[in-house]
Amino acid sequence: MKGLILSGGAGTRLRPITHTRAKQLVPIANKPILFYGIEAMAEAGIREIGIIVGDTRDEIIAAVGDGSQFGVKVTYIPQDAPLGLAHCVLIARDFLKDDDFVMYLGDNMLEQNLTQFVSGFQSKRTSSNPPSAQILLCEVEDASHFGVAVVNKDGHVTDLEEKPKKPRSNLALVGVYLFDKSIHVAVSSIKPSARGELEITDAIQWLVDNKHVVHHEVLEGWWIDTGKKDPLLECNRLVLDVIESDNNGTVDDASRVEGRVRIMDGAKIENSRVRGPVVIGRNAVIVNSYIGPYTSVGDDCTIADTDIEHSVVLSRSSISGAGRLVDSLIGYDVAVKRTEALPKAHRLMLGDDSIVEIG
Ligand code: DAU
Repeated sequence: MKGLILSGGAGTRLRPITHTRAKQLVPIANKPILFYGIEAMAEAGIREIGIIVGDTRDEIIAAVGDGSQFGVKVTYIPQDAPLGLAHCVLIARDFLKDDDFVMYLGDNMLEQNLTQFVSGFQSKRTSSNPPSAQILLCEVEDASHFGVAVVNKDGHVTDLEEKPKKPRSNLALVGVYLFDKSIHVAVSSIKPSARGELEITDAIQWLVDNKHVVHHEVLEGWWIDTGKKDPLLECNRLVLDVIESDNNGTVDDASRVEGRVRIMDGAKIENSRVRGPVVIGRNAVIVNSYIGPYTSVGDDCTIADTDIEHSVVLSRSSISGAGRLVDSLIGYDVAVKRTEALPKAHRLMLGDDSIVEIG
């Protein structure tokens, strides 16, 4: 069994945070989203992983390297343009050969590990009517943002549709799929969709239409497509909910640290209160501040004279005298500071698609 992780595509949906950077490397509890997927594959016993890389390839390669930090061997497969998830399978043909594989969308996070999903497929593959694919579904309120599957009363997947205006079920396709070599015929047989992409959803429909067995499982636990601010904060909350305390930094006598708080190497907490669950990154400095529950402060950040809660601050940002911040996602290298300069006013330099709510 091999692994295929998709980290190409345009990083535009988390603009401006990932305008030019890989959205798959945005950290959740200070660990890049993509690492959770690689770790889940390694835990499921997968040792050879192909990663599809696009415009952000240099950044992805710098972070993941040869995979040895995860105990796996990584092969990078360049994609010149985001031509669709099924296109990724097409260009990974030489890497995948005729092996079974798990395909994982690099911006998806799930609570459930992959071990059971992968071993379930492997054991069914030796049965008399082996599945060619296994998909993972999750009940959602509005399925129109996702691939949608219709399952008949006998429990068989009959129809799949990509982001339908009027979804025929509330079962969304989660970004984790298991395939055997039949998928290669499927991805070469379909045509690009109306949005110009070769859709994996259409390739799976092709399998169904051509009498291949497509199994499905309904996900237990949470699943988040992290490509937007609110799901990203929600995902950060869910991951922080299960962190363990660990203090590798320094906390002065005037500070109070309560609940589960992970403080990384070189971080300093001075005259501040930190109430977990919270992660404070490497060499971050917290001075005269309150860091409230469900906050991740990235590496090399400074937070001074500020209250912040239920927020994610990415590496190298500094926030000083900002009052009280909640539900905020602050990008890399951002500066927020109080100034005495006249006229007394807010002065902003915001990237495209930024959102500022002044209360
Ligand atoms: O998150 C689950 C959804 O993911 C499924 O329900 C949909 O059926 C599926 O099509 C997909 O929809 P998205 O619109 O969320 O896909 P997105 O464009 O965000 O791409 C998912 C990942 O794959 C992301 O890490 C970027 C990468 N990618 C995407 C494309 C289109 C590539 O590597 N190459 C590509 O050509």
